Amino acid sequence: MQVQVLTLFPDMFPGPLQSSIVGRAMAGGLLELGVVDIRDHAHDNYRSVDDYQFGGGAGMVMKPEPVFEATEAAMAKLGSDAPVVLTSPQGRRLDQGMVYELAQMPALVIICGHYQGVDERVAEHLATHVVSIGDYVLSGGELPAMVLVEALCRLLPGAVGSSNSVEGDSITTGLLQHPLYTRPSIYRDWSVPDVLLSGNHAEIERWRRRQSLLRTFRNRPDLLQSAPLQPSDVAFLHANGYVKE
Ligand code: ADE
Repeated sequence: MQVQVLTLFPDMFPGPLQSSIVGRAMAGGLLELGVVDIRDHAHDNYRSVDDYQFGGGAGMVMKPEPVFEATEAAMAKLGSDAPVVLTSPQGRRLDQGMVYELAQMPALVIICGHYQGVDERVAEHLATHVVSIGDYVLSGGELPAMVLVEALCRLLPGAVGSSNSVEGDSITTGLLQHPLYTRPSIYRDWSVPDVLLSGNHAEIERWRRRQSLLRTFRNRPDLLQSAPLQPSDVAFLHANGYVKE
């Protein structure tokens, strides 16, 4: 997959992306990450990329021309059908479904928003996706871009050691992941649940499923509305106080 990130802070890249799974994917050629300085597409000698907002109000707005032209230059390299993601707290909240959709594409452009925001014509006429990584405001879209690249990279075939570890991922199943334990079986008087040491695989699977259900019910009840639940799951949840809305 080829990803071009457009940013006012190119020094922030590759940053943490050079470590771990993404770093390996880049070294192995599964992921190519290009970084474009939006300022290189400014029109004046001051390399201006922002301006006051029409209508008044605090905060500067990213000008459309450098963003459009940087994106068009990136698309000339990647192909005109590459999706264009604009990071913004005003966007649709990123979830694993959106990550799957974007991971199918051979190429992607990510525009990192900054300042008070980006001229709305970018969202209206250039971006195919406006994406927020959560209900909080960061100073810029660079970390959200890294979050998106990291999440995408896990889904590229061959990037994660065993595809099992992607398929069982929290959220991929529609539920939060069950608890995990490793050796030692007793640490500071806290022992691993007996069932995990029993060797009874059917019982282990049942325990894990129930733990996932309980955890999701307690921490993210919103996910239960759309999770694929078996009648036995619903019965278990009801027995533990869950009432479907
Ligand atoms: N830019 C600032 N905050 C953001 C957020 N939560 N998601 C995406 N981009 C952002």
